[in-house]
Amino acid sequence: MALRDSGIFATRDATDLVDDTQQGPQLKRSVSALGLTALGVGAIIGTGIFVVIGEGAAIAGPAVVLSFVLAAVTCLFSALSYAELASSVPVSGSAYTYSYATLGELVAFIIGWDLILEYGVSVAAVAVGWGGNLNVFLESAFGLELPAAISAPPEDGGVFNLPAVVIVLAVMLLLIRGTRESARANLVMVVVKLVVLTFFIIAAAVSFDPDNLTPFTPNGSGEIVAAAGIIFFAYIGFDAVSTASEESEKPARDLPIAIIGSLVISTVFYILVAMGAIGLVPASDLGESEAPLADALQDGAGLDWAAAVLAFGAIVAITSVLLVILYGQTRIFFAMCRDGLFPRSFATVHPRYGTPARLTLAFGILIAVLAAFVPLSEIVQLVNIGTLFAFVLVNVGVIILRRTRPDMKRPFKVPFSPVFPIIGILLCVWLMSDLPLATWIRFAVWLLIGFVIYALYSYKHSKLRPWNASGPSLSKQERP
Ligand code: ALA
Repeated sequence: MALRDSGIFATRDATDLVDDTQQGPQLKRSVSALGLTALGVGAIIGTGIFVVIGEGAAIAGPAVVLSFVLAAVTCLFSALSYAELASSVPVSGSAYTYSYATLGELVAFIIGWDLILEYGVSVAAVAVGWGGNLNVFLESAFGLELPAAISAPPEDGGVFNLPAVVIVLAVMLLLIRGTRESARANLVMVVVKLVVLTFFIIAAAVSFDPDNLTPFTPNGSGEIVAAAGIIFFAYIGFDAVSTASEESEKPARDLPIAIIGSLVISTVFYILVAMGAIGLVPASDLGESEAPLADALQDGAGLDWAAAVLAFGAIVAITSVLLVILYGQTRIFFAMCRDGLFPRSFATVHPRYGTPARLTLAFGILIAVLAAFVPLSEIVQLVNIGTLFAFVLVNVGVIILRRTRPDMKRPFKVPFSPVFPIIGILLCVWLMSDLPLATWIRFAVWLLIGFVIYALYSYKHSKLRPWNASGPSLSKQERP
């Protein structure tokens, strides 16, 4: 391994990063192009379209459709950059790894830490949304309701959220059991959620009332951007495809197809669903509902039984989001542990299942505890700011790597670089700038904690420090 230790700015050579994956414990290559695309759709379609759409509609009115378009365009530019980097540096760490190859160790660590926000924390939040939909389903299908004490966090009047804990632990066990098994289960869930959304689109088209579209921008056109900053949550997940790089059968060909393909499929569904929803009921009604799509069908189309179908669709959809995002979290952390930035003892692979079982167990338990006690609300914005930040760095990474490694093999190239990556950066910054100050402060605190961990642990234990490398090592006196 070529060491370029220049302290906190040390970079890893892109080729070395790929070579590294061939040494030591290896993940099993078992996911096809279809499986990868389904992973993307599995990670993307969930809480955003089934729950958060209401929040967006409350802000932008019927123009929330345009917020969906704006968020999609923002993601598309970043998806192109993800596709280029994932196909040229197919390593499971995703944005973390790309930053290591371009911007240096400190930025890579910070982005890895930031991705815990996107993946780990969002899993907890999404699990809470799962519990909420389970309640709607039980009530509308069987007239049952779980007692609040075991189905809501303290802030919402309960003691702890048992359904959220159960689903996180179940998903964790499936992930430990195997990637191929998880990918298969995910494929089934993806089919179910697309069928349910197709049903919604058709039912909404039949009962579409154009009167609901006026006024189109009740709070002013500026709110379209603010709503896009929240709706963005619905698109998070296509980047999780890149965390499957080391388990993909043909990463160079399949990763770009899956990253861009899953985003395009989800975008088409989202825009049709959003148009359907605003045609069914006034946008303000969507904003007041906890299960906006189900309620829209009930109120706008008079389909009472549809609430159970939609709630069932939401439960399945959110389960696959949990599955893929928790999967992504473990793979990113796996790469960080392998690089020594977190304890290397976690970067082990289960001898029979070929999955990072120890790491998955640790994250599963940690997230289950978090899911038992957190409410969904503001976490969405925190996750969004963290993800947009990661996207900015991925776009920057493309530009830098084109300069530093012009000769590198790039099976997929972003067209019109650096113009497209720059547009990607500007769009992300635009959406970030409209998020509330409180979100920025929470994000800054999160990053600050990351800096402290890097200074106290990761810097010393990084594989790039000469005293941790297998080659000639520095004596104790030589260490800083
Ligand atoms: N995009 C994912 C969802 O909407 C995070 O649940």
